[in-house]
Amino acid sequence: MTGEDATGWEAAYRKRPSGGYRKASQHEDCQALDRVFRDRNVRAILDLGCGDGRHLVFFARRGYLMHGQDIAPTAIRLADEWLAGENLSADLKAGDMTHIRWPDASFDAMLCIQVVNHHRIRQIRQTVAEIHRVLREGGLLFLTVATERRPPRPGAPKAVEVEPHTYVPLEGHEKGVPHHQFDTQELRYEFRRFIVCEDVMPVHKDSKGYTCLVMQKPDNQ
Ligand SMILES: C[S@@+](CC[C@H](N)C(=O)[O-])C[C@H]1O[C@@H](n2cnc3c(N)ncnc32)[C@H](O)[C@@H]1O
Repeated sequence: MTGEDATGWEAAYRKRPSGGYRKASQHEDCQALDRVFRDRNVRAILDLGCGDGRHLVFFARRGYLMHGQDIAPTAIRLADEWLAGENLSADLKAGDMTHIRWPDASFDAMLCIQVVNHHRIRQIRQTVAEIHRVLREGGLLFLTVATERRPPRPGAPKAVEVEPHTYVPLEGHEKGVPHHQFDTQELRYEFRRFIVCEDVMPVHKDSKGYTCLVMQKPDNQ
């Protein structure tokens, strides 16, 4: 019995309603992404796993048509309040990333920042298929994810490995939330329907050690 429950995120946001992510600065690649999006006439962006909105606010301020989906209704509410407080808006929906709540080819670009690993592999594959479905041909995906496999550190919340490379903490603020540990090869394999755009942004690690990459849904697939 793992107590596994993706809605553990809802409990996490309720416990700290001021939002842990909202207080953090936006991802360090956002300025560069803004330039990329502008050069390619990106208009509609989906932030998948938008949390309490730090990237929605960043890109809405710059005039993009922002959309956000997150499994935690409290995160959606906090994001909505933050946007409204800045006279900004975005189309926000609560829901699991395995079912993205917009029609095919809705988006010119997507953000998926520290999100896609929070499932078991079967659901991750469903999510990748959904990302592919809702991006238009030639659309861009900015993805950040950990690609180092290591057992939980000593002193970290106790966790159980529920399937290969997927840990579920039994305690702490992410209790019940699956954490799949990719490696680089597996990540490339799972996203094999996309082209990695080294020319747009070289694959790199951010200051927190997450692998960051820009991918493209090919034309005419
Ligand atoms: C580490 S936080 C990152 C939040 C946001 N991307 C940011 O950078 O501020 C992970 C986010 O993914 C969301 N999430 C986790 N599992 C999800 C799922 N199955 N479907 C949709 N969102 C999910 C969580 O609620 C949380 O907001």
